[in-house]
Amino acid sequence: KKVGIIGVPFEKGQKKYGVSVAPAAMRSAGLIDHLKEIYDLDIKDYGDVEIPSREDTVGVDNMSHLPLVSACNKNLSDKVSHVLREGRVAVTIGGDHSIGVGTVDGHYKVNENMILIWVDAHADINTNKTSESGSVHGMPVALLVKELSDYWPYLPTMDWQIPQFSIKNLGYVGLRSVDEYERLAIEKYNVPAFAMEDIEEYGIQKSIQHILQRLDPDGNKPIHVSFDIDSLDSIEAPSTGTPVRGGLTLREAIKLMEIVYATGRLRAIDLVEINPALGNDSDRKRTIDAGLCILKAGLGFSRRGTTPRGVLDL
Ligand code: ARG
Ligand code: MN
Ligand code: MN
Ligand code: MN
Repeated sequence: KKVGIIGVPFEKGQKKYGVSVAPAAMRSAGLIDHLKEIYDLDIKDYGDVEIPSREDTVGVDNMSHLPLVSACNKNLSDKVSHVLREGRVAVTIGGDHSIGVGTVDGHYKVNENMILIWVDAHADINTNKTSESGSVHGMPVALLVKELSDYWPYLPTMDWQIPQFSIKNLGYVGLRSVDEYERLAIEKYNVPAFAMEDIEEYGIQKSIQHILQRLDPDGNKPIHVSFDIDSLDSIEAPSTGTPVRGGLTLREAIKLMEIVYATGRLRAIDLVEINPALGNDSDRKRTIDAGLCILKAGLGFSRRGTTPRGVLDL
């Protein structure tokens, strides 16, 4: 089992200071050592993606910092493709969720069969016309899917990213703060979307299994999980920019990741929106610990424990 870690210290997809510190905070919380607890995992840290600092092109209406978002995501897309081509699971630590554009684009360019599971309190499927915030972290899904490309104006600097991924290969888990036009898109394209009330009804296990069955009935497609930490209840993960109560427990999130891992086809994980600058020390620690648990579950850590292999008999 091989994994590649990519950090993306980027926060211009939203307005609060601090999400860009998450890769460093995760590393100093012992990210690599925690992953080493997983038996037989070969870990390579690819470091942080280069973040451009100056905005030299004109922007787009109601879409903050598009040129920076675009430049960062272009670098990230190349990096994710590279890591996948080296036969490693691409684990990307954000950064705000605008970086989902680069991770999914980079994955799609390596394997057009991929399916995408967006674990989030929010649907992140606004365009600049429907967004109330103008923040790109609420728009990555709409940028990625080809079915919505006609709803965008021409986006300068984004020529490297031609949306080809189909919305038919998308599923949601954890929704509980969905804007009106986002809901319209979900219904129009019949996206399998397990909002918190559905998870309440079916449980996390049936919910994720239903999505996998819908998107990949033959069970042979590579899976990308884009995990927004705000999918967790804000008691579980308080240090995040747009917290919403009534979310997933950490146990549900771990179970979800374990189920996806068990398919043997989880090829990319994004972990985004951890903001270590928000809250107190205990909030910060709880949020980062939750993120570590989620990554471990997605990379094969077993809560049952693992026996020593090939060492000695009892
Ligand atoms: N729907 C809101 C917006 O468009 C919130 C998006 C929050 N996104 C996130 N990745 N946390 O701005
Ligand atoms: Mn969110
Ligand atoms: Mn709103
Ligand atoms: Mn999100």
